[in-house]
Amino acid sequence: MRRKLVIGNWKMNGNRAANTALLSGIVAGLNDFGADSAVCVPAPYLAQCQAELEGTALAWGGQDLSVHASGAYTGEVAAAMLRDFGATYVLCGHSERRAYHQESNALVAQKAVVALAAGLTPVVCVGESLAQREAGQTEDVICAQLQAVLDALQAEQVARIVLAYEPVWAIGTGKTATPQIAQDAHRFLRNCLANKNAAAAAAVQILYGGSMKPENAKELMAQPDIDGGLIGGAALKATDFLGIIQAV
Ligand code: G3P
Repeated sequence: MRRKLVIGNWKMNGNRAANTALLSGIVAGLNDFGADSAVCVPAPYLAQCQAELEGTALAWGGQDLSVHASGAYTGEVAAAMLRDFGATYVLCGHSERRAYHQESNALVAQKAVVALAAGLTPVVCVGESLAQREAGQTEDVICAQLQAVLDALQAEQVARIVLAYEPVWAIGTGKTATPQIAQDAHRFLRNCLANKNAAAAAAVQILYGGSMKPENAKELMAQPDIDGGLIGGAALKATDFLGIIQAV
């Protein structure tokens, strides 16, 4: 049985004072809801997470990483640096990075490999645009995004990734995918995982992202192949983030 996982993606939001209030509010409300939880924060706030979350049930991580171990790569953050600050997770290939930084499927696959090698858990993000969905290309798109990662991994590594299905048309729009649309995509992705490693496919947590809120989380996470959420806007308010975790 897969344990549920809810990860908050703060994106480029926060300040030290607000972060302390948000983190303490989340930690104060965390009971054993039967789900693991984490926040993926802008890199400058990893030290604050380590200082304020060490020893709590709330894990933390980064939102991207370099494929390079070190060197002349101005502005990039190495996997070892994330580990230096106690990170557990790192987002790989979020749609905003694929769009604004032209991250290819091959680059995202490299990032997942580097993350695993550093002892991080990559959260591999896949998802189609509205135009691709309307053109009937959803499965082709998300399969290609996932397959690039699977082709770069050894079979035994598959169980160590987390996958996030984030239909781009649902991110930040309030247009949440219906539970059936989301379940269909998750089931398809799990079948793609099974082609590489059947045992791992059953273990990999597949999170839904795209306007998940406390009011729709329960129905989404009741779906057999939805193992949690990757949360944007609702992660920035402790009561909303906790409301999603409690919906598990
Ligand atoms: O990574 C999660 C994010 O893309 C979803 O954002 O605001 O639709 O929950 P939001």
